[in-house]
Amino acid sequence: MKILVTGGAGFIGCNFIYYMLGRYPDYEIVCLDALTYAGNLKSLDGVKNNKNFKFVKGSISDKELVDTLFAEEKFDVVVNFAAESHVDRSIENPFIFLETNVMGTACLLEASKKYSVKRYHQVSTDEVYGDLPLDRPDLFFTEDLPLTTSSPYSASKASADLLTLAFHRTYGLPVTISRCSNNYGPYQFPEKLIPLMIVRAQENEALPVYGEGLNVRDWLYVDDHCKAIDMIIHNGRVGEVYNVGGHNERQNIQVVRTILRQLDKPETLISYVKDRAGHDLRYAIDPSKISNELGWEPETDFDSGMKKTIQWYLDNTEWIEEIKSGEYAEYSRRIYG
Ligand code: NAD
Ligand code: DAU
Repeated sequence: MKILVTGGAGFIGCNFIYYMLGRYPDYEIVCLDALTYAGNLKSLDGVKNNKNFKFVKGSISDKELVDTLFAEEKFDVVVNFAAESHVDRSIENPFIFLETNVMGTACLLEASKKYSVKRYHQVSTDEVYGDLPLDRPDLFFTEDLPLTTSSPYSASKASADLLTLAFHRTYGLPVTISRCSNNYGPYQFPEKLIPLMIVRAQENEALPVYGEGLNVRDWLYVDDHCKAIDMIIHNGRVGEVYNVGGHNERQNIQVVRTILRQLDKPETLISYVKDRAGHDLRYAIDPSKISNELGWEPETDFDSGMKKTIQWYLDNTEWIEEIKSGEYAEYSRRIYG
């Protein structure tokens, strides 16, 4: 089996590559990644000498490059992680989100059709369902909900989902889509809530909590997401969407307090700042479909997942320092002052 993993130098993509090569040592994986600010070749150090792994630098929006790669490599399966993934950046500049998340997905779909891949899997997000009210804990995202997006990021991801389903219906391309809740774990870029708070708390910097910190996210350890994608590409039904989430809802402020406790830092570091524009209130996944059809269940609970994650950031200061020395410093100044 030869798999194209796009965006494999990013957070979930690199964890997926480690997961798959660990579980299926005979599979071949080619990673296509543009190495944007969020991509880091160091995150793939553990597989760079594996004979079944190959890295190609390039953009999924580069039609010619994508076509040549598909012609040469003859992929069986494509898993598309490549994306601009940060909501706050999409509020600053939506256009690169359209270029990568929509046009890039279109390029991959076109090549998958032309070269008859056996499965195209689109890694999507629960954000395509918009949000749920805070006072209705009985409501959850199910796969049949209409797409109602809030940010340019989620609108671009929803567009990519619709294109993916259109390629299935119109051209018979064998596609699947997963819509996962918020991931956390090793190698996550420190612009996202959990690594941002870990990194800033270690430096005794103020922890910027948007609004009152009462927005709710449904957290999933990254390996559980990787396991779900593995199950979907092997056994998922073509043309179907699968929600992925582990019923692990937390208010943002609860997450921040957990991090402070584990790092033994004072709550005085918390700083309530201006809310995110269009801020989604609550995400909560109903994972019954993937659980009933494919037997997927999360394995890592939030407490042990957070311990592992915090320890990883404490043990990998070199990885963090390299990021901090790049455009990250300028981004932090711009967003947080
Ligand atoms: P990330 O930002 O950490 O990584 C994205 C990767 O894509 C980077 O390596 C980057 O260099 C690469 N990339 C960006 N533009 C590219 C292009 N034009 N061509 C090739 N590569 C390009 O993102 P992540 O958090 O790992 O998310 C991966 C995927 O999972 C995304 O599609 C995201 O929408 C989805 N997702 C993320 C979460 C989450 O909580 N992080 C949850 C659900 C779904
Ligand atoms: O739900 C899946 C999505 O989760 C993915 O599709 C996205 O790629 C991923 O970035 C994530 O989106 P969120 O917007 O939920 O994640 P983020 O880490 O940016 O924020 C989580 C929550 O924390 C959100 O309610 C905003 C809040 N927050 C975030 C930052 C960066 C803060 O309070 N302060 C911050 O500085």
